[in-house]
Amino acid sequence: MNKKDFLRVADYSKEDIKEVFETAEKIKAKFKKGIKYSPLAGKTLGMIFQKSSTRTRVSFEVGMYQLGGYPLFLSANDLQLKRGETIGDTAQVLSRMVDAIMIRTYAHSEIEELAKHSSVPVINGLTDLHHPCQIMADMFTILEHRKSLKGLTIAWIGDGNNVLNSWIEAAPMAGMNLKMAVPKGYEPDKNILDYGINLAKKERTGMLLTNDPIEAAENADIIYTDVWTSMGQEADKEKRLRDFHGFQINSELLKHASKDVLVMHCLPAHRGEEITDEVMDGPNSIVFDEAENRLHAQKAILVLHMLRGKKIKI
Ligand code: CP
Ligand code: NVA
Repeated sequence: MNKKDFLRVADYSKEDIKEVFETAEKIKAKFKKGIKYSPLAGKTLGMIFQKSSTRTRVSFEVGMYQLGGYPLFLSANDLQLKRGETIGDTAQVLSRMVDAIMIRTYAHSEIEELAKHSSVPVINGLTDLHHPCQIMADMFTILEHRKSLKGLTIAWIGDGNNVLNSWIEAAPMAGMNLKMAVPKGYEPDKNILDYGINLAKKERTGMLLTNDPIEAAENADIIYTDVWTSMGQEADKEKRLRDFHGFQINSELLKHASKDVLVMHCLPAHRGEEITDEVMDGPNSIVFDEAENRLHAQKAILVLHMLRGKKIKI
């Protein structure tokens, strides 16, 4: 891996993605055997959170600790950022003290600005536009349940949000077909969609956008959903609840998918809204494997970015 930053899936080549999977597999196997692996001893990760988090915070924090390094949790409320210090200045200061920065924030332009002024790697822990670490963990999880990603069809049922945007960039590179069902007015980002459609053409994979959840779910190998109201959109919650009527993942919808369909959700779930308890706790659900793999996939991402240009032994 020779990339400094990981701001969006499109930053990675197919080879980079493969390297993340291979590294994650080795690191996870070592960890499961209880073998200590501390390649990041003496290194520090600054973690800036402008939004809430359970999985991202815990997986990066525990992951750094398990790799022998030190995770520094920086709540945006307590940083001088909140009082008007620029992102550029923050990046320059942190670059002199930490070895990498992970940030969860609102506008994607903020992480781009941070990366521009930072001399250490910057990793995206979610912006309004992308959630790339989530999708790396998701693809790694699918690979553990299926031999290959190539040719699989993933159906996205729900909002055209950050997680879907990252899937749009990832699916064609992984050789996967992507069928998206979103209500009218909740389409994914236009530029990212255009990018994905072109990439899908080049890679000869399928990409379909519809307003019909059944059309998307038909024969799908994976059904994926996310909350209908993402962080920062709380004011629209009631309208969204009405507009997403019919977009719930329930056992009726599952009947249209392949018999052994994998059900995924990046979590946190709003049970009873976008997904029923029956499906989330049912035999097709792999949502907790998916959550666990945030830890293993991100440990690979941390090692590959923080030790880029060095020989990595696992
Ligand atoms: N999936 C995910 O990013 O979860 P958190 O918001 O809890 O970090
Ligand atoms: N789309 C959701 C993902 C949470 C992990 C959000 O942005 O809130």
